[in-house]
Amino acid sequence: MSLSPDDAGVPAPAPQASPRFGGQAVRLERVRKAFTAARPLFSGVDLEVQAGEVVAVLGASGCGKSTLVRLVAGLERPDAGVVRVGNRSVNGPLEQVGLMFQEPRLLPWLDTAANVACGLRDGLRGTVAGDLRVRELLSAVGLRDAGALLPHQLSGGMAQRVALARALARAPEVLLLDEPFGAVDALTRTGLQNLLLDVAARARTTVLLVTHDVEEALRVAGRLVVLGGRPARLTLDAVLPGTAPRLPDQAGLAQVRQRALAALAPDLETTPAGFGLQG
Ligand SMILES: Nc1ncnc2c1ncn2[C@@H]1O[C@H](COP(=O)(O)OP(=O)(O)OP(=O)(O)O)[C@@H](O)[C@H]1O
Ligand SMILES: [Mg+2]
Repeated sequence: MSLSPDDAGVPAPAPQASPRFGGQAVRLERVRKAFTAARPLFSGVDLEVQAGEVVAVLGASGCGKSTLVRLVAGLERPDAGVVRVGNRSVNGPLEQVGLMFQEPRLLPWLDTAANVACGLRDGLRGTVAGDLRVRELLSAVGLRDAGALLPHQLSGGMAQRVALARALARAPEVLLLDEPFGAVDALTRTGLQNLLLDVAARARTTVLLVTHDVEEALRVAGRLVVLGGRPARLTLDAVLPGTAPRLPDQAGLAQVRQRALAALAPDLETTPAGFGLQG
């Protein structure tokens, strides 16, 4: 089943060839990160994500969400403290960690299928099973017939779905998604969220989902954290009631929504004086 425009809201099954790895816990212990010495981004952040947990990370633009993801992905090193995936401290990218960047970052000279294949684990790349997995993933993100297209032939939302398929290709034990659904329409987004939940539930994948969308966090996550301030800290850490995917009127959700919006509010930029407010 695919996420083609007429069935975008239907949960897509996880690709059958998915290897079933268990999730790995993710831990940040007293992590400090400063790009400028005078204004550290993090000065001692702690975050523990249990194996198989789906945690949404919210926070104002520039508060450090992508940096947090890059630290877990091993693309940034903490100045102090430790990042762990399972029992390993992260010193560089790990094969069991899948990452979807905030932008698609597809290789422009490779077609869509080859871009997805870049995400396969080494043993699968170039094999019949690997090719099958790529086809299944393209189908699962609604791009069954797009395998031969080059990145410049894709819309923004299509490119984002290719990037999601690439991140899923390695059947990651930890999946890091940095605003993964921003460029797709609402119906496709619901379908992709369902795909994510299906994949995560089958493989007990640990998911860190960065999003600007409080409703998305409330629908799909098991737990919601808000990053705020400078240096950034967790200004909210809330377990969500019931089971994802949730309806907006799920019992107990209104209270978490209110707390999330309140935690986000201090970092919202105020309107510059005189900007569009004169009658
Ligand atoms: N490599 C870098 N060198 C210098 N400063 C950086 C670097 N990466 C990030 N920053 C700074 O760190 C801060 C946090 O950036 P980050 O990309 O993590 O924010 P974000 O929360 O993901 O924002 P957005 O919601 O806009 O994506 C910003 O002030 C940014 O300018
Ligand atoms: Mg970001």
